[in-house]
Amino acid sequence: MNKALSIFIGVLISTSVFAQRDPNLGIIPAPVSITRANGSFILDKTTVLINQSIDGAKSADLLNAFIVSKAGYALRETKTVQPSQKSILITSVGADKLPAEGYTIKVTPTQITLTGRGAGLFYAVQSAMQMIPDKVADKITIPAVDINDYPRFAYRGTMLDVCRHYFPISFIKKYIDQLAYYKINTFHWHLTDDQGWRLEIKKYPKLTTVGSIRNGSIIGNYPGKGNYLTEVKGFYTQDEAKEIVRYAAEKYITVIPEIELPGHASAAIAAYPELSCFPERDTFISDKTPWAGSRKGKQVQQTWGVFDDIFVPSESTFNFLNNVLDEVIAIFPSKYIHIGGDEAPKTYWKESPFCQALMKEKGLKDEHELQSYFIQTIEKHVNGKGRSIIGWDEILEGGLAPNATVMSWRGEDGGIAAAQQNHDVIMTPGSMGLYIDHKQSNSPDEPVTIGGFAPYQKIYAYDPIPKVLTADQRKYIKGVQANMWSEYIKTPEKAQNHAFPRLLALAEIAWSPVERKDLKNFSEERLPNHLARLDKMNINLWVPTPIGQSDKPLTGGDFTIDLKVPIAGGKIYYSLDGSRPSENAFLYSGPVKVTVPQGEKRLLRTIVIAPSGRRSVTTETVMNNGAPDVKAEAKK
Ligand code: ACM
Repeated sequence: MNKALSIFIGVLISTSVFAQRDPNLGIIPAPVSITRANGSFILDKTTVLINQSIDGAKSADLLNAFIVSKAGYALRETKTVQPSQKSILITSVGADKLPAEGYTIKVTPTQITLTGRGAGLFYAVQSAMQMIPDKVADKITIPAVDINDYPRFAYRGTMLDVCRHYFPISFIKKYIDQLAYYKINTFHWHLTDDQGWRLEIKKYPKLTTVGSIRNGSIIGNYPGKGNYLTEVKGFYTQDEAKEIVRYAAEKYITVIPEIELPGHASAAIAAYPELSCFPERDTFISDKTPWAGSRKGKQVQQTWGVFDDIFVPSESTFNFLNNVLDEVIAIFPSKYIHIGGDEAPKTYWKESPFCQALMKEKGLKDEHELQSYFIQTIEKHVNGKGRSIIGWDEILEGGLAPNATVMSWRGEDGGIAAAQQNHDVIMTPGSMGLYIDHKQSNSPDEPVTIGGFAPYQKIYAYDPIPKVLTADQRKYIKGVQANMWSEYIKTPEKAQNHAFPRLLALAEIAWSPVERKDLKNFSEERLPNHLARLDKMNINLWVPTPIGQSDKPLTGGDFTIDLKVPIAGGKIYYSLDGSRPSENAFLYSGPVKVTVPQGEKRLLRTIVIAPSGRRSVTTETVMNNGAPDVKAEAKK
């Protein structure tokens, strides 16, 4: 080992100590208020479980199943409690005074009381499961505390694109389990796009027999280094979709289906070419696009992007879409139906004599107004069925449909404009980290993704309420959402890698009051245990890089490498000689002093290895004591 190194062995902290000293008791998202009291409740085999809430039987079962997993025994369920008997009480007494989805947890040395109704009670159990530590000598010690909790936003969402790649029902259920654990209550299911139509529509079978299959996909980043030449297909039957709706509802999650219109319609048009302005025209495929199979006729897209062949605004298209939406509405009981509305180029509408005549007839001054006419026609139908539409922020262009909710994705401007027009808004700006298909590091180790840069810290930093809005306008911001587009996400494992831990940061900005935001507490005191839990569940999380490592070059002669492990039970390995760190490198066990002689530099390279063996990307820090910058020298 380098003589200049001296190593201090840090104090190793066990995982349950982490949670016990954390003011948030390990709970993600951080509760509204959490007040510690004296003493603690010691849970053991004599503790009884009492459900006195009308709808608490499910919550009691859930909690007891959790206690079995944690303690190795189930609690006896009783109706009443004897004096001096320790109990966990589930009740709805007083729940009518709590805010929507709110709950309280009171822990005294003799009783744990969970109060709430419906979603509130369910969330009380989620928090209880997160704060109950591991057993020590058959006893579980829970500190006395008063928790009062309710969400900042009614809409706490995440979108999954299943069109660019199909994800099985089994994965979606597992995903929903995690959303519920973190009090995310909306699953936005992006079901139709250029590269695949993924929902069975009984009236139009070709949507799935034709539209759910593409012959290939580009390799690597757009425009692609070739084509995989393998079919990508898959769709959900209506029974499967209903099964997801039912499964999610049990966990107080609403499923919002998205049927894209008028753009991103290539798969529907491949199935039914008459939905195009130019049914006879081949799908445009650039010579540069690597392609599998025929380039003739209407094709399901094999590359990514935005395509000109969009729905023609004809009566027969509206009839088709209304019939599709009727079947969708019958499957999904959500108040909202997402109708897309984004990225609809006006090229074909400009060229089409039919569209130009329609614009004249309706007195529409440009194609944006035609898009607005399109969306408003659909909105009338959806409203007629007692539902409301949500659309991406392009639905502002040409005039917003009267009752539409706007999903602001191109930054915050769309959301701001919609709120200023007294329309409800869901914030999901890609530029603020809410696109969880984006990269999480600058490391070449990270697999191919669409680009961008959205580590969980960026999501955590985002406040969904734009400062420019007045107090009155702020009421229209109903929530926040993270989006996972799947062009470069082919497998459930990669989807998990994109989702975790970013969805945990999303959960906190969606639920917790802004004053409770504390990145250090989140990253250092709570996240490590949550990541260890996901790792143990074999969820393919993104292992964060060491906490405290600079990603910028450092200058000087004396350095102290002072790092924290981002995942409980994980290990940091490091090298200082440029070699790639692995289990064969130095094991970090506490602050390391490094002296770099004048005119030299050292390269710190680290890797985090989770208990499962999952790895972080390698991270580098240059420590420079006046050595020439080779790149700068070369430029001179
Ligand atoms: C979007 O990302 N096109 C909504």
